[in-house]
Order: sequence, then structure tokens, then C-alpha cells
Amino acid sequence: MDYFELLRYRKSTRKFTQEQISQDNLADILAAASSAPVGSNQYKDIHLTVVQSGYILDKLSEASAKRWEDKAKMKKIIGDTSNVELNQKAFDPFYGAPTVIFVSHRKQDLQPGIEFSNVACITYSMHLAATNLGLGSVFMWGSLEAMREIPELDNTAILNLPDDFEPLLGIAIGHPEQKLSARDIKTDKITINYL
Ligand SMILES: Cc1cc2nc3c(=O)[nH]c(=O)nc-3n(C[C@H](O)[C@H](O)[C@H](O)COP(=O)(O)O)c2cc1C
Repeated sequence: MDYFELLRYRKSTRKFTQEQISQDNLADILAAASSAPVGSNQYKDIHLTVVQSGYILDKLSEASAKRWEDKAKMKKIIGDTSNVELNQKAFDPFYGAPTVIFVSHRKQDLQPGIEFSNVACITYSMHLAATNLGLGSVFMWGSLEAMREIPELDNTAILNLPDDFEPLLGIAIGHPEQKLSARDIKTDKITINYL
């Protein structure tokens, strides 16, 4: 797909079918992750975890479900909750996606904040690759934040990460319930000044 056409198709998908993505598609998405730029070329500080186990996704969603009990707070965080299931019991932060890839970073203090930039670059690259394949995807920050907020429901250990790594972002991927369609790119969403 032409790059700007791809950008018009990119959106966050929040309803997935149960169909698993193919191994070929997964391989392309992981290749896209490796194509992303990383500060100071420190790829060794990044670790990806592909989760396709329903059991593990359920465990990881526990804190999010609990957090959604505070609906007023959730409204404050995400603003427009109209396309999200507000029933806390039914709330699944992964929206039924059969694959979630977590992007973890080695804990480091040499360049504070660069870890978040790195994982964002990698995740966005996977998001665009998924879009190009006609797959739906959505960044996953909330579920990890919920686990940090509710330490007793923090199930990050289940990700079996190498020592000294922490999950900072994820991406849920699957077949969208509604086929992706192109949108106009609105250029007035972000303020810009010119000097
Ligand atoms: C860093 C980051 C974290 C995000 N975390 C979540 C999340 O946890 N859950 C979710 O449903 N959407 C999440 N999103 C998606 C944004 O809400 C979405 O990109 C934004 O509302 C714009 O909508 P669009 O992607 O459809 O254009 C995240 C996006 C980014 C960039």
C-alpha cells in the first residue's frame, strides 16, 4: 500500500474476531518491529513477548477489569468511552484479540525516558505492518498501567521476561470485526508552531 494510503487505513481496532493471525503475518509483524529505530542502537535492551495463550491473557486482564470499577476515573483517562464496553465484568483490555505482543525494555537510568520512546517506535512499526496486512491492532498501555496501580494483581511475572526487563507497552492484534476502511487525515489535531 502507498504510505499515505496506509496512514488513512490505520486506526485503533477494539473489536476482534476469534480467528488467530497466521504465522506468516506474525513473522511480518515481528520483522516490522526489528525495522524500527532504537536509541543508540541498543536493540539488546528490547525484548518482545508474543502471547497467544488465552489463560495468560486472562491473567493479565485481571487488574484492568478491577480498575474499570472506577468508571469515573476511566472516563477521565480515556475521555470518549462510547466505543468501549463499560461493563467492568465484561471488560477485556485486549478486546478479544487472539495475539498480544508485549514490548519490554531493560531497566536503565543512563538516558531517562528513552525506553518509552524506543518501545513506541517498535510498537508503531508493528501497528502499521498489521494495518498493511488488513489486520486490526491497538496499542496496549492501560493493562500494564493497571497492573502497576494494583500491585497485588500485577501478573507481569507470567511473561517470563529476562532479568531486569519490564513490559512498557503492548499491541493487541487480530482480525477486525469490521474491515479496516480509509479515513481522512485531520491535520488540525496537533498544534504546531513554526519558527
Ligand atoms: C502510547 C499509547 C497507548 C495506548 N494505549 C491504549 C490502551 O491501553 N487501550 C486502548 O484501547 N487504546 C490505547 N491506545 C490507542 C489510542 O487511544 C488511540 O490511538 C487514539 O485514541 C487515536 O485513535 P486512532 O488510533 O483510532 O486514530 C494507545 C495509544 C498510544 C499511542
